[in-house]
Amino acid sequence: MKNIVILISGTGSNMAAIVRTARQEGWQDKFGARVAAVISNKAEAGGLAFAREQGLATAVVDHKGHASREAFDAALAAEIDRHQPALVVLAGFMRILSHGFVARYAGRLLNIHPSLLPAFPGLHTHQRAIEAGCRFAGATVHQVTAELDHGPILEQAVVPVLPDDTAETLAARVLTQEHLIYPRAIAGLLSKM
Ligand code: GRF
Repeated sequence: MKNIVILISGTGSNMAAIVRTARQEGWQDKFGARVAAVISNKAEAGGLAFAREQGLATAVVDHKGHASREAFDAALAAEIDRHQPALVVLAGFMRILSHGFVARYAGRLLNIHPSLLPAFPGLHTHQRAIEAGCRFAGATVHQVTAELDHGPILEQAVVPVLPDDTAETLAARVLTQEHLIYPRAIAGLLSKM
């Protein structure tokens, strides 16, 4: 079985979209793959309740309980490795990961970023796109490499920036597309594994 481990920090709507698509498209029969666990660095992450309702294994590895980034990453990796993952999927996971962690999962670590990379890596992407006068914005699914919000692009989606957009309205428009491209990118990888 190809196990997928999803890391979240908050609402987990991308995680939920992946879980629902996996079920609807029958990833278990099609690819021999399943979402094996959802892990959060925050106990209060809303997505954990959804994951539990779906009968998925969940865990919390709180970054605050660890003295250094490396110590946190080691504890996180130990929890992830219990599931022997084929893919580790960052879905709104708001921690910068150490080079050692990225290297450990090289080639099987994915992220979604709410901009058309390589434009606007980092935070506040929607506000920055509006302030730059962009006519279009979007989201990118990419392989994770040592450099933040870089790495080979797997999928992108484009949405218009409308004249009255705020960061919130633009974020909501982009998020609907994230829910389509993240499952699509994962299915594409699974089909080749
Ligand atoms: C998404 O916009 C994602 O691209 C960004 O954080 C947000 C997470 O949303 N990294 P959710 O937790 O998946 O609902």
